Amino acid sequence: MESVTLRNGIFKESQEKGKEYLLYLDVDRLTAPCYETADQTPKKSRYGGWESTAIAGHSIGHWLSAAAVMVSVSDSALLKHKLEYAIDELEHIQSFDNDGYVSGFPRNCFDNVFSGDFEVGNFSLGGSWVPWYSIHKIYAGLIDVYNYTGNEKALQVVIKLADWAKKGLDNLTEEQFQRMLICEHGGMNEAMADLYLITKNEDYLTLAKRFCHHAILGPLSEGEDNLEGKHANTQIPKVIGAAKLYEITGEQQYKDIAEFFWNQVTNYRSYVIGGNSIREHFGPENAEELGILTTETCNTYNMLKLTEHLFNWSHDSVYMDYYEKALYNHILASQDPDSGMKTYFVSTQPGHFKVYCSPDNSFWCCTGTGMENPARYPRSIYYHDHDNLYVNLFIASEISLQDKRVTITQETSFPEEETTKLTFKEAHGESLTLHIRVPYWVDREVDVTFNGQNMTSEVKNGYLAVTNEWQTGDVLEAQIPMNFHIYKSKEDARKQALMYGPIVLAGALGKENFPETDILDDHQALNNHPLIDVPVLVTSENDPNKWVKKVESTPLTFETEAIGQPGNVKVTLIPFYQLHHQRYTLYWNIMSPDDYQNFKDTEKELEVRRRRITVDEVNPNEQQPEVDHHIQTKNSTSGYLNLVHSGWRDSRGEGFFSYDMAVQPEKTMYLVVTYFGSDHDLHVDGKMYKRDFDVLVDGTVIANQKLNLNQPGELFDVGYEIPRELTKNKDKVTVTFQSEEGKAAGAVYGLRIVN
Ligand code: AHR
Ligand code: ZN
Repeated sequence: MESVTLRNGIFKESQEKGKEYLLYLDVDRLTAPCYETADQTPKKSRYGGWESTAIAGHSIGHWLSAAAVMVSVSDSALLKHKLEYAIDELEHIQSFDNDGYVSGFPRNCFDNVFSGDFEVGNFSLGGSWVPWYSIHKIYAGLIDVYNYTGNEKALQVVIKLADWAKKGLDNLTEEQFQRMLICEHGGMNEAMADLYLITKNEDYLTLAKRFCHHAILGPLSEGEDNLEGKHANTQIPKVIGAAKLYEITGEQQYKDIAEFFWNQVTNYRSYVIGGNSIREHFGPENAEELGILTTETCNTYNMLKLTEHLFNWSHDSVYMDYYEKALYNHILASQDPDSGMKTYFVSTQPGHFKVYCSPDNSFWCCTGTGMENPARYPRSIYYHDHDNLYVNLFIASEISLQDKRVTITQETSFPEEETTKLTFKEAHGESLTLHIRVPYWVDREVDVTFNGQNMTSEVKNGYLAVTNEWQTGDVLEAQIPMNFHIYKSKEDARKQALMYGPIVLAGALGKENFPETDILDDHQALNNHPLIDVPVLVTSENDPNKWVKKVESTPLTFETEAIGQPGNVKVTLIPFYQLHHQRYTLYWNIMSPDDYQNFKDTEKELEVRRRRITVDEVNPNEQQPEVDHHIQTKNSTSGYLNLVHSGWRDSRGEGFFSYDMAVQPEKTMYLVVTYFGSDHDLHVDGKMYKRDFDVLVDGTVIANQKLNLNQPGELFDVGYEIPRELTKNKDKVTVTFQSEEGKAAGAVYGLRIVN
């Protein structure tokens, strides 16, 4: 990557914008939580958002990775200087801890863990929120600074931090270690493997293997997909670590894990833009459920990393086809070109819009990976392997191959044009085979000319190979014909997206009832903002070329015939990566006039009604919905039931769980709770609990509920009216499910406040 630079074009512009944000961020504010953790006075106040919560410190880690890579791919003396300062600061902060601990939150959660006797949940460990996940970003950041800029001090800091971890983790039995790994821990196995690669210290390799979570990786190595209901971004880094371990150890199981997982996720668990997850979780296989909280951006950052490993092992265009799709349609699309701010979820809800972080008060996980993305654009444009150079992506750039004394420039404004021109700026007759990717979306021959003359060549593994003894001035030009095609959702063939080459075209739906700002501290603040009606595309013609035309005056802009219903409207389509600050749809309902007649009367009305009456909702067992609704618990358990594709939560014995939920003071509110009709007396650890519990709103019991095979085999809803005096003058209430000795509350599979 260090030998590739971007030339003017959409990626370069986006990279520059990304760099601006890295330069804007203040290292003294990013390291403030680390100072506080070390009981020292910070130089400046910490940032807001997640940097003011228990996950604090993750952002300095992301920033280190982002700045290190940025410095290596684009000149910036200022950023380099800031990076060195950040490392000096971390080294200084580390000196206050005898064992070398440095992070943005107190180490007592780890001290609990290292005692062997600790509490663990999917997102909590030793009483803190995903501590290994957060500190992993610092490990990865320091390693990146060493690997990309050669900063020795960064290596010394990360070695001390790793030795602190090793000393504590040596106390744990394998069973305790695996129990600890129930809690999200980022890519700790990858970080330890990286540190082994640098130092060759076997302790780190042992730790990398210990950090492999058997409960997840075991089934994957056997080709079993148990991913449904699992938190997506927790799992992807575990698999990246496995991929790295395959490269180090050659052990087949690690390769099997990575390949099987990648195939499952990209083929059966992804959306048209290459992203995955709904409310951060994997849904059922082949589901493509649309919603506001879909395709978390971190996941795609991680999937691209994993894809690089797979391509490394097998140079097949299938990997780079996915890479290209996800890079243009999710990663490039996730940064606001005006402000440089990043998305968290990318909504697939028709008629919704992108929501970006604020510069100082968000610091979501995706703000962090979002900082890293722009610097990483040059990563997979090329792949150099002995006498072979793979041209994977059509992005304006320049590459130098020192061992071959070759420099090649790639000139293209793809996807605005269908040609790419590779010029040997420097070459001395060395033999080299150029492999040009023939993407899956090409439906005709790719024409290639060498110094202006047509040439034919064979396509193998999706690449067209040209071998030559190249000289300065040689030019290879490829025409990669683009066309319209339709992408059909795996879940419902009537839900379709329109594509031009690899580019997902989004319907540009304007600013009707648009929020005052879409740059937010809280990414969920506009979840209940009213939607708009999105036209249904009604046509009997299957070939989109018959009803979509290019707008000649503007590149990559298209317009449909007046087939949008109701109202015979024309719809404008633009690349999703270009669409910002307005409403959009990615997935259309495309149907024949007959189907539309039925559809109008049923689904659309139902959906619109449902969205208009829901004031707030929570999905139990899902991290963000629960955290955002300030979940409180005592003796509470949560899980996922594949049979009904849903998460659940209960409490057992003297216990409870509660959520803060939005209400509208001016209307009567109803609480609608989803239960499972097969639930009956609960038997755990030799104890029996009757499912008999109270439902409270702000401490007042509004109902008693018993569950005993109420509707076997299916989920069912119960609605409770909330007395008006409990919601008067309030915009939030606390909903509690409370159990007492010998009884259980729930399980609750979903709850909504409706009006
Ligand atoms: O829990 C830490 C990160 O925050 C997760 O990986 C992401 O999905 C989440 O919301
Ligand atoms: Zn994220």
